[in-house]
Parts: sequence; C-alpha cells; structure tokens
Amino acid sequence: MLKIAVLVSGSGSNLQSIIDACESGSINAAVKIVVSDRKEAFGLERAKRKGIRAEFLDSKSFSSREEHEKACAALIDSEGCGLICLAGYMRLVTGWFVRKYPGKIMNIHPALLPSFPGAHAHRDVLAYGAKVSGCTVHFVDEEMDSGPIIIQTSVRVFEGDTEETLGKRVLEQEHKAYPEAIKLFSEGRLEILGRKVIVR
Ligand code: GAR
Repeated sequence: MLKIAVLVSGSGSNLQSIIDACESGSINAAVKIVVSDRKEAFGLERAKRKGIRAEFLDSKSFSSREEHEKACAALIDSEGCGLICLAGYMRLVTGWFVRKYPGKIMNIHPALLPSFPGAHAHRDVLAYGAKVSGCTVHFVDEEMDSGPIIIQTSVRVFEGDTEETLGKRVLEQEHKAYPEAIKLFSEGRLEILGRKVIVR
C-alpha cells in the first residue's frame, strides 16, 4: 500500500480530502505523516484527530532552507513514504528536495497553470478578468508551479465573484482532483514524459 506524506501550512482541507479518500478505500494508500512549517496549521490538528503522525518543523530553527528540508526528508523517510503531497504548503521546495524524490512530489495549485502561478491566484484571476479558472495537480519540479500536469479541472468565474466565492468554488474541485491524481499514481498509471504526464 502506498504511504503518503502530506506537507501543509494551513487549514488542510485538501489533506482532509486525501485522508477521507484513503479511509473510504477509494485510494489504496494511507497518509502516514503530516508535516507543517506553521505551528498553528489546522492541518496538524486534522492529522492528530485521525491518529496520523503530525510534526511541526519551524524553518527558523534551521540554518538554511536545505537544512529544514533535510529534517523534513528524515521524517518522510522514517515513515517509508513513496509519495509526498504538497497541500497548501506555502514554501518553495529546493532543487535538493526535488532531486531527492524524482517524480514523487505532487502539488495542487488553485488556478489553471501555467496561468496565475504564485500565492494569490484567485486575486490575480479576478484582477485579470479571466472567465474561467480552476485547479491544477502537477508533479513538482525545480521551478514554482511549473511541473508536468496530472489533472486540471475548470470552474467558471462569475461577475461579482470575490476571492472567497471563487476560492470556494475552486476548492470543491481541488477536493476531487487531488485524490483522483493520487489514485492514478497509486495504481502506477502516471508516466512522466518530458513536460507531459501520460495517464495509462
Ligand atoms: C488550496 O486552495 C491550495 O490549492 C492552495 O492553498 C489552499 C490550501 O487549502 N495552494 C497554493 O496556493 C499553493 N501555491 P487547504 O489548506 O485547505 O488545503
């Protein structure tokens, strides 16, 4: 069974959707550890409630980003995880981390990449006047929000949308897309060919 590590910084609603999909048996996988760079992240609480190991790693206690990630990797490896899911993890991972886990790190972004990368996707979508948005689950490479795309789902942008209303509509799709991408991975059906992900 696939063992998953989930990295969070906040609410962890995507984490919850992954845990639920594992628990219900729709994915043959288990979340073994949740790591957060923020002590108050509700994702840690969600993990504890399910009896999942929850660890806070304060980046300020480490001399560099890589040292912080080495500690994170040690936790991930101690649980034998074969997939790392970034779920609202608001840190950019280093090349060292990406190279350590080739093809084994996924991220979810709340827009249709390569449009609107970065930390304020909904704000940027609304400011640009885009008529559709959505979410993207992708493998992580050494650039921000740029790796090979696994799944994208679109939603309409309505006049009068706010970051909150658009964010809620996108989040509903995220909660379906992330478990679906993990399911495909757990079944060995994802093949990375250059920039592309082929679903077998
Ligand atoms: C999600 O919308 C996720 O796509 C986004 O943060 C939110 C986390 O929500 N991630 C990014 O913006 C990464 N650039 P959650 O903590 O409830 O899963």
